Amino acid sequence: MELTTRERELFEKIDFQRIPCHVAIIMDGNGRWARKRGLPRVAGHRAGVNSLKETIRIADELGVKYLTLYTFSTENWKRPSREVRFLMKLPEEYLSRELEELRAKNVCIKLMGEANGLPEHTRRAVEEAVIKTEENTGLTVNFAMNYGSRDEVIRAVKKISRLVSEGSLKEEDINEDTISAFLYSGGQPDPDLLIRPSGEQRLSNFLLWQLAYTEFWFTSTYWPDFKKEHFLQAVVDFQKRNRRFGGLTK
Ligand code: IPE
Ligand code: IPE
Ligand code: MG
Repeated sequence: MELTTRERELFEKIDFQRIPCHVAIIMDGNGRWARKRGLPRVAGHRAGVNSLKETIRIADELGVKYLTLYTFSTENWKRPSREVRFLMKLPEEYLSRELEELRAKNVCIKLMGEANGLPEHTRRAVEEAVIKTEENTGLTVNFAMNYGSRDEVIRAVKKISRLVSEGSLKEEDINEDTISAFLYSGGQPDPDLLIRPSGEQRLSNFLLWQLAYTEFWFTSTYWPDFKKEHFLQAVVDFQKRNRRFGGLTK
């Protein structure tokens, strides 16, 4: 992989024994990036796709195992229909160009979110990518699309209560693992690192359960300007954090 001098410097600071296993990203700031340039907001979404490609490449290169990317929230339906339509077209555009490379890289694509709420054409494109990569054993990329953490919890509670009322699960056996298993992320470890560009410092309904002990990393850079350098810097900073999980430092 080609790296600039700055990227190389950061790369050399990384301890490869302690790469975050799971990185989650709230890909934010596309609209502001575009407005700053006098462009329509959707131009920012298109530009953001390049950051997404670059991020998947560097995460894969570093040996990250899970990458969860927030692409569309359950609240983003409130936006003007033109913008929503554009955003719902992007996944198929992206996948039609990139799926082969992702398959060649052994990437496994997963969808987190309410698939049934997506337009048919979007759902079909993503589900095809999921099926075509499901045997892959490399980096798992979760696309959080029509995803809302509160929705995810409600869905899990409903599934669990159904099992309890059917008699196949005892109330006293419900524990943290039960809840985790019924989330979209079931079977995957919680994120070690959460990145949010664009200067906002909030979760916007992203992974409320899973982020309980995650390290947060913020940058004012807008997502379309987010490059390998930012990802590498986030990992370098992550490796300096002292994670205690409620206990005491070793
Ligand atoms: C993130 O960028 C993409 C989505 C939420 C779909 P925004 O569209 O939120 O960009 P800003 O935050 O308005 O700049
Ligand atoms: C969160 O960003 C959703 C995605 C990046 C996909 P928003 O732009 O929707 O969040 P708020 O509205 O600023 O909290
Ligand atoms: Mg935003």
